[in-house]
Parts: sequence; C-alpha cells; structure tokens
Amino acid sequence: MTPIQIAPSILSADFAALGRDIAAAERGGADLIHVDVMDGHFVPNITIGIPVVRAIKRVATRPLDVHLMIEEPDRYIEGFVDAGAAMVSVHVEAVPHLHRTVQLIKSLGAKAGVVLNPSTPAGALEDIAGDVDFVLVMSVNPGFGGQEFITHSLTKLQRVREVLDRAGSTAPIEIDGGIDVDNVAAVVSAGASILVAGNAIFGSADPERATRALRAAASPSGAGLPA
Ligand code: DX5
Ligand code: ZN
Repeated sequence: MTPIQIAPSILSADFAALGRDIAAAERGGADLIHVDVMDGHFVPNITIGIPVVRAIKRVATRPLDVHLMIEEPDRYIEGFVDAGAAMVSVHVEAVPHLHRTVQLIKSLGAKAGVVLNPSTPAGALEDIAGDVDFVLVMSVNPGFGGQEFITHSLTKLQRVREVLDRAGSTAPIEIDGGIDVDNVAAVVSAGASILVAGNAIFGSADPERATRALRAAASPSGAGLPA
C-alpha cells in the first residue's frame, strides 16, 4: 500500500518565524514541507520565490514539495530545483507543453507532479499519466489557505486513480486544500496518499500536535503512528 505522507503547507505558517514553524511540523512527523509559490497572475495572490525556498532548505530536514501556481513555470523550474526543491508540481492549466515541462523537472533530478484545478477534468491527464511522478488534485481553487474543502474532489480522486491505473502508473496522488482531521480519512479512502494541510496545522496553536493528529486521523485504523 502507498505510504501516507503528511505535507504541511507553510502558507499558513508565521512567515517571520518559518524555521520555528517548520521544526514544529517536523517534530510532529511531517514527511514533506509543502511550499506554495504564487505569482499574482495565475492566481490572485503573491507569496514567495526562489530565495525563500533556498533559506527554507537550510533549516528543513524533510524534502521540499514546491507547488508552482505561476505562469510560464519553465522559466523558473531550474532555479527552484537548484534552491532545494525535491518535488516540483505545475498546473496543467498554466502549461502549454506539459510533456516538455515534466521532462525538464525530471532531467533536473526532481520528482515531477502535475496539478489539476477543481474544474479541470481528470481526463486532462490521459496523455501524460505515464510520465508523472505524482498528481496533485486541488480541493480548493488555488490562491489562498483556509478555504473550504470541495466535496466533489472525492470523485475527482477516484477518476484520477483510474486514469493512472489505465496508464500502468503507480504514481501517488496528492490532495491540497481544506484538508483537516474531519475529512482526511475520506480523501485517503478515495485514493490520496500525500496530504497537504496549511490551516489545519499552522492555524493551530500547536502545529506539532496538529501534524500528529492529522496522521492519526488519516490512518485506516484511526490509531495512527505512536506519538
Ligand atoms: C492553496 C494552496 C494550498 C494551501 C492549503 O492555493 O495550494 O497548499 O496552502 O491550505 P489549507 O490547508 O489551509 O487549505
Ligand atoms: Zn499547495
């Protein structure tokens, strides 16, 4: 079975104390650190860029999962990998030559992911499914943390799994947006194994404990790993 990976999104962390917040999530058992890059064009918000990823790389002990919500990502991918990104995902809606972009990410030694917005059908993956290292299903419209989970994403996860299976791919599916202890078991049942959470972890007074709680709620037995 695909292992569950918890990927706290620093979008909801204290940007003046990123090192402290990342360390707390790691003590709580974070497997990845999810970094949301927004350009104010593809999405309405602007967040962080390559220098901040480089700084995070110096303090994080887990791989950096860099989610690019930007136009023309090909211009910046090498910079993000050089800064320390181990996983790079790009939106199918932002990239005209997705096959080329996926190959570029892989050629730089990072894992390549493709992202689907809530309104983008799973079928958009049909001809790239055999090439990707992971798929990210957005369960909110990208741009902001703290939004409500879109329930239709559960159907979307199942459809994405079907497309990957048909292509003979065992690539894991990442889910991003509105994930919390109440819905995480459902997204795991529907096929997600990389679980992004921003508000549920860094919106909490105790991110370490919240990370542990999310993993416990995600595990099929409900028991999770020992603390
Ligand atoms: C949204 C970002 C998400 C966001 C998730 O555009 O891609 O990674 O940080 O945050 P929550 O878990 O608060 O929805
Ligand atoms: Zn994200």
